[in-house]
Amino acid sequence: MSGNTLKNDLKKVLEEATKSIKAVNNLDELESMRVKFLGKKSSLNSFMKSLSELNSEEKAIAGKSLNNVKNAINSILEERKALLSKVSINSKDEFDLTMPGRSSSVGSIHPITKIMGKSIEIFESLKFECVEGPEVEDEFHNFSALNIPESHPARAMHDTFYLDNNFLLRTHTSSVQVRTMDQQDPPIRIIAPGKVYRKDSDITHTPMFHQIEGLYIDKEVSFSNLKSIINIFLKSFFEQDDLKIRFRPSYFPFTEPSAEVDIEYVDSKGNKNWLEILGCGMVHPNVLDMAKIDSSIYSGYAFGLGVERLAMLKLGITDLRLFYENDLRFLKQFQRM
Ligand code: PHE
Repeated sequence: MSGNTLKNDLKKVLEEATKSIKAVNNLDELESMRVKFLGKKSSLNSFMKSLSELNSEEKAIAGKSLNNVKNAINSILEERKALLSKVSINSKDEFDLTMPGRSSSVGSIHPITKIMGKSIEIFESLKFECVEGPEVEDEFHNFSALNIPESHPARAMHDTFYLDNNFLLRTHTSSVQVRTMDQQDPPIRIIAPGKVYRKDSDITHTPMFHQIEGLYIDKEVSFSNLKSIINIFLKSFFEQDDLKIRFRPSYFPFTEPSAEVDIEYVDSKGNKNWLEILGCGMVHPNVLDMAKIDSSIYSGYAFGLGVERLAMLKLGITDLRLFYENDLRFLKQFQRM
């Protein structure tokens, strides 16, 4: 092998490599080019092997040329690689515009929250102010101040979750009546929506459920005012003027007289039934007195609505527990409610 032939051969190799590498359009092909021009079977490699035939002076010169060509090919490969990697990220060919899009699932407001929102809106339009109270309550606000003394059997009616130090999970939103009367002077016209807790679970009871408390205290508030507001609310909520509403005499220690209100509905078999949806009555004078409101001047009504019951009737659901099982197939039905 003479110095000149080697030079010529190397020139050819470099030309061919440059041309081939620049024609390559993907990283796999590029790798086979690397093997072809620099691998064990490449002509460059066989030139390397034949260096041993040369004397040391020639060897030094030829070796240098060989290395130069090897480096040149390497940098052409690197350059092409950088270009192809960039192109493959931006390449339009990689995108199939006809593929279905990857949709992200959109959450939605829980049906109970929606029913609460709708109810609050109606009461606000009837000039009730919306207030809140704590879910962890003390016995005084949940019971005593509502005319339910200690050891009164009515406390047992409530299946209370007790916490330490006379605290408990409120069994009804009526505790917020007491807190509001502590803070405001009459006239008082509030609703108090929120979670309440009782040790109860079957198809019409869950251990946590929602109530909306209502309280109106002013001079000359009467039972007919109470009936009228309940009628207006229910007919507006169910968007049904001929809704059948029944007031049934009942007992609550904090109201006198007291009533429970039922709504007529038609079940899946076409039978007519009544479902109880709220308790109400005229605020007991003892409750007013305990709140330092003069019961000889003021009177008031109060009610406590079961939000889940409203939701069951409105949405046609027979098992209340479904609301809290977080089964998306159930919840999704109300996404656009
Ligand atoms: N607090 C009662 C209950 O949870 C409902 C109620 C509220 C009754 C206000 C009368 C007045 O059952």
